[in-house]
Amino acid sequence: MARNKVTIVGAGNVGATTAHWLIEREVADLVLVDIPQVEGMPQGKSLDMLQAGPVMGYDAQITGTTSYEPTANSDVVVITAGLARKPGMTREDLVGRNQEIITDVIQKVIPGSPNAIYIVVTNPLDTMTYLAYKVSGLPRERILGQAGVLDGARFRTFIAQELQVSVENTHAFVLGGHGDEMVPLPRYSTVAGIPITELMTTEQIDRLVERTRKGGAEIVSLLKTGSAYYAPGASVAKMVEAILKDRKLIVPCSVYLDGEYGIKDLFFGVPVKLGRKGVEQIVEIKLQPDEKIALDKSVELIRSTMSALKL
Ligand code: NAI
Ligand code: 2OP
Repeated sequence: MARNKVTIVGAGNVGATTAHWLIEREVADLVLVDIPQVEGMPQGKSLDMLQAGPVMGYDAQITGTTSYEPTANSDVVVITAGLARKPGMTREDLVGRNQEIITDVIQKVIPGSPNAIYIVVTNPLDTMTYLAYKVSGLPRERILGQAGVLDGARFRTFIAQELQVSVENTHAFVLGGHGDEMVPLPRYSTVAGIPITELMTTEQIDRLVERTRKGGAEIVSLLKTGSAYYAPGASVAKMVEAILKDRKLIVPCSVYLDGEYGIKDLFFGVPVKLGRKGVEQIVEIKLQPDEKIALDKSVELIRSTMSALKL
């Protein structure tokens, strides 16, 4: 049986870390691609990861490149190429620059891998995934954005710390855009199956929700020179594995909504079933009035970022 192939575009912090988490899982051979201006960097990181194989006991291949030829016939393509927001840069500046990068990447990678499932990571996430969808012409089942797995993982980490329990006992449910726009749903977030609304005060929950929303910014303010990559890379690896192993895993992802949750023509974070065909189902739940208000606000924020896109 042919081995699966996963291409990761952008061999920077998130791209290389995604490769690192993925190669250990041995679910596919990997191609790590970046731009010619950094010739040698994707090759060097790939060779380094390959040489860790004998020590760690994994047996997958990884190829570093600045050309798209080795990416042909990928099963999954992960796009991490792009800039992170820097001090003094407006959201619109970021949209403009990353719009150029995403357009360039899609035009180069699609011809060789027209049947792949595409996962976008570049920020602003929901807007860049929408752009990639439009530029690629892919069916909506085969293009999605990573945000909710990471946001949920952050919420779970904070819940476990607050209640001094294992993260394994925690489950978190988040909807909406990435970052400040996120809508965590405490009544569906649990510890050993018990909703956290029965385990914590409203003040405690609000504090954890706020910290989760600002989870990306918290890491940026600590690192100072960049944004998070270990947890983002792990989140992408989880999604890739769910797709390749056809796990039918329900996780929150940014997907194209066409009326679901009353939202049309927008990439938005909702629970979906991930399998070999990509987004195999969008899971809809009934929302309470306060949750609907938060969701509407999240939609508005994404639409406002989207207005900086030139389509
Ligand atoms: P980084 O700067 O470490 O890496 C970005 C890489 O993209 C660089 O190696 C750069 O050379 C490459 N690149 C630039 N233009 C390219 C092109 N046209 N084709 C191929 N490669 C290209 O940045 P990092 O930390 O890896 O972040 C990447 C993106 O992911 C940023 O937009 C960041 O905001 C976003 N991000 C999103 C997360 C999410 O949860 N959705 C989490 C963390 C980061
Ligand atoms: C994060 O949430 C920056 O989107 C990135 O860490």
